[in-house]
Amino acid sequence: MTIKPILLNEISEGMILAQDVVDKYGRLLIASGIPLKQEILNLLEKHEIVSVFIRDHKSMNFQIESTQDVASMEIRLKLISSVKEAFSKSNGLTDHLAELQYYIEDVVHTLIKRKNVLLYLQDIDYASDYLFMHSVNVGLFSIVIGIAMNLPLDELCLLGMGGVLHDFGKTRISTTILDKQGKLTLAEFNEIKEHATVGYKMLKTDTQLDYRIMFMALQHHERCNGSGYPWGISKDKIHHLARIVAVADVYDALTTDRVYRSRLTTFAAMQMINEGNRIHFDPLVIEAFNKVAIPYHIGSSVTLNHGIDGKVIGLNSINLLRPLISTDQGMVNLLHESDISITATK
Ligand SMILES: [Fe+2]
Repeated sequence: MTIKPILLNEISEGMILAQDVVDKYGRLLIASGIPLKQEILNLLEKHEIVSVFIRDHKSMNFQIESTQDVASMEIRLKLISSVKEAFSKSNGLTDHLAELQYYIEDVVHTLIKRKNVLLYLQDIDYASDYLFMHSVNVGLFSIVIGIAMNLPLDELCLLGMGGVLHDFGKTRISTTILDKQGKLTLAEFNEIKEHATVGYKMLKTDTQLDYRIMFMALQHHERCNGSGYPWGISKDKIHHLARIVAVADVYDALTTDRVYRSRLTTFAAMQMINEGNRIHFDPLVIEAFNKVAIPYHIGSSVTLNHGIDGKVIGLNSINLLRPLISTDQGMVNLLHESDISITATK
């Protein structure tokens, strides 16, 4: 038996719900296994749920109707405040990092129990605290990519910590330079580049963390063709965990608004990362990244090649580039419509 999504107006009474339905805050509305009745349909409508999963014996494709945040809002806020605390301390760092490590391990244990973990984080308004939010996102994204690469539990926990602490050295760079709207001078750019070495040295001097965490801070701007910094080393010399953090770092940076540029859509960011695949990034990391990064988010507006606008209402797990689209003229499953493609996304 497989499951498939179905639009609310196509449901008939008696169909069995195959997956829990949650509201926009993640609270359970209706548990799976329940036969659908009119009262339940009314409730779904009230909560603006457009489609649900039902049990289906014919469908061979598994579709994802809603994407779950990598970490709950509660744990993300705890991580952000814990990072903020650790980044602002010049001493007693070990105690703050112990708290951070505890939250990271909690996230790793939760994520490895889940199936279909995708790189998805709901936006939170943390504009003034970009560095902390970015640090947490990179930690979470690195863990998800690491899971897709089947890394062992201990390396996933290291990845989480390394991802969260990768830009630790930026706490020593002036915010005037970090948030500068115009073009950076060569001297300013060189100062920013120092953050990799500075972060490594701070972690080495002030903590007893695993050396691999420090290596992620030191090497996350190294590139496989040797064009990165601080050392300009090439692929085999870059620690494999740092090669993962490098992709997570670029992906989060590209998909976040900054003072000097607007964010790219996730599709455009994925394209850009894939273009740099062979020269900048580890192809094995990119392969895993492509399995978990979502080019089109559920709810995003798209335009199809025949000029029709629609909304993404479901993702096909076997090909995230071919989602299920709802249009005024009905539902289109791009998985089965090879002549239809998405030409624009918002
Ligand atoms: Fe960095």
